[in-house]
Amino acid sequence: MTTANGQAPGAGPNGHPPPDVIERIAKGFYETGFSNRTAELPPAPLPPAPLLPAPLPPAPAPRAFGGAVMAPPLEVVPPALDLVHDEGITTFDSPAYYFLPEPPPEPPAAPEAPQTGVGARLAAARRDFPALHQSVNGKPLVWLDNAATTHKPQVVIDTVARFYEHDNSNVHRGAHALAKRATEAYEEARGKVRAFIGAGSPEEIVWVRGATEGINLVAQTYGRRFVGRGDEVIVTTLEHHSNIVPWQMLCEANEAQLRVVPVSDGGELLLDEYAKLLSSRTRLVAVTAVSNVIGTVTPLPSIVGMAHAVGAKVLVDGAQAVQHMPVNVGALDADFFVLSGHKLFGPTGIGALYGKRELLEQMPPWQGGGSMIDRVAFEKTTYAAVPVKFEAGTGHLAGAVGLGAAIDYMQSLGLETIAAHEQQLMAHATESLAGVPGLRHLAAGPGRMSALPFTIPGVPAERIGAFLDREGIAVRAGHHCAQPLLRRFGLEAAVRASVALYNTREEIDALVTALHAGVAKGWE
Ligand SMILES: Cc1ncc(COP(=O)(O)O)c(C=O)c1O
Repeated sequence: MTTANGQAPGAGPNGHPPPDVIERIAKGFYETGFSNRTAELPPAPLPPAPLLPAPLPPAPAPRAFGGAVMAPPLEVVPPALDLVHDEGITTFDSPAYYFLPEPPPEPPAAPEAPQTGVGARLAAARRDFPALHQSVNGKPLVWLDNAATTHKPQVVIDTVARFYEHDNSNVHRGAHALAKRATEAYEEARGKVRAFIGAGSPEEIVWVRGATEGINLVAQTYGRRFVGRGDEVIVTTLEHHSNIVPWQMLCEANEAQLRVVPVSDGGELLLDEYAKLLSSRTRLVAVTAVSNVIGTVTPLPSIVGMAHAVGAKVLVDGAQAVQHMPVNVGALDADFFVLSGHKLFGPTGIGALYGKRELLEQMPPWQGGGSMIDRVAFEKTTYAAVPVKFEAGTGHLAGAVGLGAAIDYMQSLGLETIAAHEQQLMAHATESLAGVPGLRHLAAGPGRMSALPFTIPGVPAERIGAFLDREGIAVRAGHHCAQPLLRRFGLEAAVRASVALYNTREEIDALVTALHAGVAKGWE
C-alpha cells in the first residue's frame, strides 16, 4: 500500500500511523465512520526540550565570494517574472490595500556577512522555498512577515500538486482506487499532526480551516453547551482577535462574563492577577502559547495547572508556537489546542483542532451536512463519531496532505535546529535594531519568539512599512489583529518584523540598513 506521495504509511518519521491504523480509519469510514471502539495509539514520545542544540546534518559546501567564504547569494528571478504587489488589486478602494508606484528596478545587492553553524544549515534550506527567490521593487525579497504567513517549501507545493494530479477524489466514500488513495493520504496527514503535537490518537485531531475556525468551533460547541449564565471565560491581553471575539460572542449569547489577564510593561502575563480571576465560576481559559505581536512565550504549564485546579478547561492557541518550538499537548495537559497550516509552511485554509477525546465526545456537532452524519432520517439524524462529527462537507483534502508534508519538512530540519537558529537571529536583530535612531522596541524581553515589534515615534507605522516595501522588505505594519494589546502599550499601530527558519543575518542587516536610510531620507 502506498500513499499520495508514494511512501509506505508508517515509514515517515516520528510516529506516523502504522499501516493497520490507516487501514482501520479508512475501512471504518467506508463502513461505519470512526468507531469509538478502536484501540488508541500509544502516546507520542515527548519531544526534547526546546532550544537544545541538535546535531547538525552536513552543511552544503560554502562558496568563495569576494575573497570571503559566503553562503550562496540570493537567487533573483529575471525582472519579467517579478511579482508586483498591487497587480490585480483593482477593486479595493480602501487605502489599506495600496501600494505606492514602483521605483525603477535596481540591481540586487549581494549578501555580505558569512553564515556559520546553524545559520548556514538553514540558509541552505532557504533554497527549498521558491517564493523567496524573487525580486520586489528591484531588490531581493526579504520576507520578514512570517507571523502573518510563511512561504512554502517545494515539497509542500509538489505534494499538493501531486494530490490533484494523481489522487484527487473525495474521501471516506466511493468504492474506487482514488477514493482509497485520497482517504489514506488524508488520514495519514491527520496522523502526522497527531504525532507532531503529541496527541494521544488521530480521533483527537479535527481538520479545520485554521486556528480561527478551531477556536470558533470550541466556543460554539463546548462553549454553548458548558458555559452558562454567570459563568466566566478568561482570556489574556496578549490574544489575537481570533482568541477574543469568539469568546465575546459566546459570552453575549449565554450571558457569561469575559475576564482578561493583564500584562506587565515588559509584556509578561501577570500570573498573580490571573490567580485572582480564577474561581469556581471559571469554565474556560483561552490563552495563546506565543504572542503574535510581541513574541511573549506564555507559562503554559502554570496556566493550565491553575485552571485545572478550579475545574476549568484550557484552550491553547498554538498558531505562533508550532513553527518555532516543539509542542506536546499531552505533556501540557491542554484540553484544546489549535494551529494553522499556513503559519508552519503548509497551505492556507487548513488547520487542526486538538481536543481531549472525552471532551470532543461530549460536544454537540457544529455544522450539519454530509460526512458528519451516521444516519439521516427526517424524524431524527444521528451523528458520526469524533472527529468526523465536526467535519461537515468536503474538507481541504489537498491542504491537509500538504500540511502533512510541511510537518515532515520541519521535522527533517529538526525543531531544535530551527529554534536555535531563530534565537540567534532574534539576538542579532534586537541588538542591531537598537542602533536605529529613535526606534522603540515594543515590550522587548528575553526569550521572545520570532516577533520584533517596534515604532519610531512621529512616523506612522504604515509609512515605515511602505518605505521598507520599496526596499523589497516585507514586514507587517498595523494593529496585527491584536488591538487591545497595542492599546495596552498606548498604540494603535506598530511595525513588526518576524523571523522564520529561512531568514538570515543578512536579511536582518538589510532591514536595519533600510531603517537607517528611512531615518536619513525622512521616510520619503
Ligand atoms: C496567535 C494567533 N492566533 C490566531 C491566528 C489566526 O490564524 P488564522 O488566520 O490562520 O486562523 C493568528 C494569525 O495571525 C495568530 O497569530
